[in-house]
Amino acid sequence: MRVIVESSPEQVARMAATFVAALVRKKPTCVLGLATGSTPLGLYRELIRLHREEGLDFSRVTSFNLDEYVGLAPSHPQSYRYFMQHNFFQHINIDQRNTHVPDGRALDFEAHAEQYERRIKDEGGIDLQVLGIGSDGHIAFNEPGSSLGSRTRLKTLTSETVRDNARFFNDPAEVPRLAVTMGVGTILESRRCLLLACGRHKAEAIRATVEGPVTAQVTASALQLHRDVIAVVDEDAASSLYRREYYCEVEQSQQALQAGKLKFGA
Ligand code: PGA
Repeated sequence: MRVIVESSPEQVARMAATFVAALVRKKPTCVLGLATGSTPLGLYRELIRLHREEGLDFSRVTSFNLDEYVGLAPSHPQSYRYFMQHNFFQHINIDQRNTHVPDGRALDFEAHAEQYERRIKDEGGIDLQVLGIGSDGHIAFNEPGSSLGSRTRLKTLTSETVRDNARFFNDPAEVPRLAVTMGVGTILESRRCLLLACGRHKAEAIRATVEGPVTAQVTASALQLHRDVIAVVDEDAASSLYRREYYCEVEQSQQALQAGKLKFGA
């Protein structure tokens, strides 16, 4: 796993945006996997800026979101569809018909989940999946114990996740206990994963993800099995990594290589 440590959440957002923007420029018809939560907000702001100031063109891009709360209508301010509309989609030139968020009010969740998976395949698969991480190490809503081969399905949220997410709701009793989420197996099929984390409260989850054993108890650790994962984290989120210095050395070599300045010993 490639680990890039940035000095601040703003720098994390900027670095993450360079990967997304490079893909959109190289492959204008790309399929993006998108995430909600506070972490990717800076990335979306930066992409909106690139769209406005540099003409980054999303008109042929397709997107699939990771998850949605069960029971919330798309118009509910805490639904993930609403989040995406207000924080990203309505500020860029993506065709709304090409944006996909699981339906939290599907009548038959099993059929809906299958259809969501099929749609991803029909679009040629996800080129780049943006991921946040929960303080318990979950990716999307794949809570500890989720099968590492899981597909899109209904998932019960842990009390830790419900507590983490209660800050967005007026009344904690309103926080949904169920979500429709892409599975770990679905995420692992993306061609590239971009994992973002900021803050000390993510440090333990990042350590377990990058350096711990692969375990369903930390579903993000399954990313160790993927051949192209880039974790962009701030200093606080990197603060528990044992091999932090080495990751920085790898980045320096990478940059030197790109700049043609790599020195070989005698
Ligand atoms: P956050 O959520 O970005 O709001 O911290 C991440 C997650 O729970 O996946």
